[in-house]
Amino acid sequence: MIKVEGLTKRYARTVAVDNVSFEVTKGQIVGFLGPNGAGKTTTMRVLTGFLPATEGRAEVAGYDVTTQSMEVKKRLGYLPETPPLYPDMEVKEYLEFVGRLKGVPKSEVRQRVAEVSERCSVGDVQTKLISKLSKGYRQRVGLAQAIIHNPDVLILDEPTSGLDPKQIIETRDLIKSLAGNHTIILSTHILQEVEATCERVVIINKGKLVATDTVDNLTHRLRGSEAVLVEVSGVDADAARERLAKIEGVARVTTGEGKGGAVRLEVETQQSQRVRPEIARTVVQSGWQLHELHAAAFSLEEVFIELTSSQKAEQNNG
Ligand SMILES: Nc1ncnc2c1ncn2[C@@H]1O[C@H](COP(=O)(O)OP(=O)(O)OP(=O)(O)O)[C@@H](O)[C@H]1O
Ligand SMILES: [Mg+2]
Repeated sequence: MIKVEGLTKRYARTVAVDNVSFEVTKGQIVGFLGPNGAGKTTTMRVLTGFLPATEGRAEVAGYDVTTQSMEVKKRLGYLPETPPLYPDMEVKEYLEFVGRLKGVPKSEVRQRVAEVSERCSVGDVQTKLISKLSKGYRQRVGLAQAIIHNPDVLILDEPTSGLDPKQIIETRDLIKSLAGNHTIILSTHILQEVEATCERVVIINKGKLVATDTVDNLTHRLRGSEAVLVEVSGVDADAARERLAKIEGVARVTTGEGKGGAVRLEVETQQSQRVRPEIARTVVQSGWQLHELHAAAFSLEEVFIELTSSQKAEQNNG
């Protein structure tokens, strides 16, 4: 539904997007993740036809964003970083205006405005001037205008930025409810948001693609499927490490200092091996004191930091 091939965008001297390729299939929600200045907004603006690409190409709903931009615009809803609002209009008036502009038939536009207002929780500010709205309400109106013509593809640039916690949850739910019928790409810095909303994630850093995969795969890929954290005393670190390293399914053991002079061991397992019971048994049989034993999950956050701060990035496209 969205296809990006070798996309490069240069501004004067800055290479904002550097040879990026990825695809999004119909009905998916994809999180577009990257630190400030990574090139998220630039990529989105190229996808929406607002900016020409320097090199490469992109397709939305089967149409080329450069040569068939009218077709693309009909099928695409876009929420920019700063919603394109007219301060002198009332909310309802503005949404009707955008609806007509985007080809909603005159006879249906009122009904449609009522629907999206309900979904985006702006029913209570219908007759307010946009200039008088708070930031969060502006964001909601921005979302409402993006979905007014029921587009196949939605491109949302930080859709929850500026919203209150309750509204963040409602917006995430709204976005999730739109998947299936709609293909969605949303940018964010918030990893939780990706975990809560998206099936796939595309990570870019300094204009370059560093990873594209499912959220599950990414969080499992970097360091085997599980890591276990153990703290014991009554044994020295090297002896403990050697003993635990002999357990079947253990890939690697690293040691450190635990609380109160205990030995802290991080046990990395081979793919999908469950070694916790065996670790517990070994500790007890060796006569060590067990202070702690639990799984250390690798969060998307750790994956993200790892991918965006090291050379490993290039090896992790999958
Ligand atoms: N109009 C412009 N002219 C020149 N350089 C630009 C322009 N817009 C963006 N850039 C540069 O392109 C790079 C990518 O910016 P972009 O806005 O796409 O990043 P982003 O990932 O959306 O960041 P953020 O998380 O801060 O929104 C940055 O180095 C930025 O300074
Ligand atoms: Mg941006």
